[in-house]
Amino acid sequence: MPAIVKSSRRVQIVAWAVASLFVLGFFFNPVGVWTGTILGAWFVGTQKPRRGFLWMFAISFIPSLIFGWRKIPLTGPEQALHYLGWTLLAAVLGVLPFTFHRLVSVRLPGFLSTLPLPLAAVAISALLMALHIGAASVIGPSTFLIFWFAATVVWLWNQESHATEFVFGAGVIAVGGFGLFRHYSDVALPVNLLTGAAFSWICLGVALFLSVWALFRPIKQRTWAERPQTISRLQSPFTHEPLHVVSEQGREALVSSSGERFPIRDGIPVFLKPEDLTGDNGKYNHLYETIGGFYDDTQRVAGAFKGLDRDEYFLAYMRMLEAKPGDLVLETSVGTGLSFKYLPRGVKLSGLDLSPEMLANCQVNLRRWKMEADLYLGNAENLPFADSSFDVVFHVGGISFFNDQAKAIREMIRVAKPGSLLLISDETEEYAKATYEKIPITSSYYKNRQTTVKIPIDLVPHEMQEIHLEMIKGGLFYALTFRKPPAGK
Ligand SMILES: C[S@@+](CC[C@H](N)C(=O)[O-])C[C@H]1O[C@@H](n2cnc3c(N)ncnc32)[C@H](O)[C@@H]1O
Repeated sequence: MPAIVKSSRRVQIVAWAVASLFVLGFFFNPVGVWTGTILGAWFVGTQKPRRGFLWMFAISFIPSLIFGWRKIPLTGPEQALHYLGWTLLAAVLGVLPFTFHRLVSVRLPGFLSTLPLPLAAVAISALLMALHIGAASVIGPSTFLIFWFAATVVWLWNQESHATEFVFGAGVIAVGGFGLFRHYSDVALPVNLLTGAAFSWICLGVALFLSVWALFRPIKQRTWAERPQTISRLQSPFTHEPLHVVSEQGREALVSSSGERFPIRDGIPVFLKPEDLTGDNGKYNHLYETIGGFYDDTQRVAGAFKGLDRDEYFLAYMRMLEAKPGDLVLETSVGTGLSFKYLPRGVKLSGLDLSPEMLANCQVNLRRWKMEADLYLGNAENLPFADSSFDVVFHVGGISFFNDQAKAIREMIRVAKPGSLLLISDETEEYAKATYEKIPITSSYYKNRQTTVKIPIDLVPHEMQEIHLEMIKGGLFYALTFRKPPAGK
């Protein structure tokens, strides 16, 4: 029976209204001051610091160079050079608060993480004023409120929790309303301390204090030596030898008795060989490395435009799993870990993926959701786990474009315990054509493909039991389940 996922008209209306406001912001500065700052704070959070800085710099420098040029009478090369230099400096300083926010906020707990952006923005806008560059239309407390509002909106968006949204939503509206009031009225603030240079100095001081604190604040991360049971399930994906942890100059690695060595980078063991990134695996890996930072958000926004209830969508296939607290659960091609939220609390999570960028975002998500998982960088066609290691093994969303789908399915079966139920879910060709071939970033990867999406039911070995196929959302997605025969059968 096909699973039906309902749409909500209310979600759709809100999504289109908010999107219209953001579009208006591009043409109408009083709105753009707010929406542009929110977009900047969001964008920089989705990117690695250097890439985020360069993109934001380009987005701010190129238009101001082109449009500012027309307004200023340039009489000679010296003046042109002068103009170029100041525009460049203004663009760099304009982006700095966002980059500072990107670097510091990730190391600060909870709501405190919204502060680096407004603090840095005030300090830098004071500097811009002192240098007489840029059109500093908002300064002091107004700057603080606009940037704080932006950081708070993005923080709330990332929390995804309705309870938190409710509590802080009221606060954000109050702060935003007060900011608007300050911006468009000349009412003096009751506290003199908050006006003039003193405020900028205070902000600079607090920003410095927060950055030093963030730098030295120890962030607890489990080492691999602390996970002996996990290590006992690991093996080399190439020689199948068991692995053990070694620590060299403070860095951990996994080694086999014949001397194979797998480094552990940012808490994630790396099991990749250059051959793993050839063919379709390499082609689509490039896509995920590009979109990893905003993979979750684009899914959420696209879902909201269609009024899709995301919880219902995920549960349409996740409810088929037989996971219970205490179970060892593996998702191959875990991506940013979106499915993990739909498993019972108390399961022991493992996820493997081919893309470092997707896994880095999975780590961020796990911290946000206060969950723990063992993550691995590897190819789903060569799993680094011993036979019969997991109670539940599933895969969502990547298999259609694997180099060797049959091998990936055999690997899932190998590492699953006898008697366990496995799940494979992905989009159909109909969805790939209707969506990925049309979206600008993905279209170049999906148009003129050699591979069309086929539901891999024929690749499931015939000895598997209870093979069952269910179509989801009117045939746009599918969920394929089957059971590994119990031991001795
Ligand atoms: C559409 S995403 C799905 C992510 C996640 N399962 C979800 O439901 O949101 C597809 C994922 O498959 C991963 N992937 C693609 N080829 C892979 C391979 N050969 N081995 C492991 N992961 C792979 C990509 O890096 C990407 O994270």
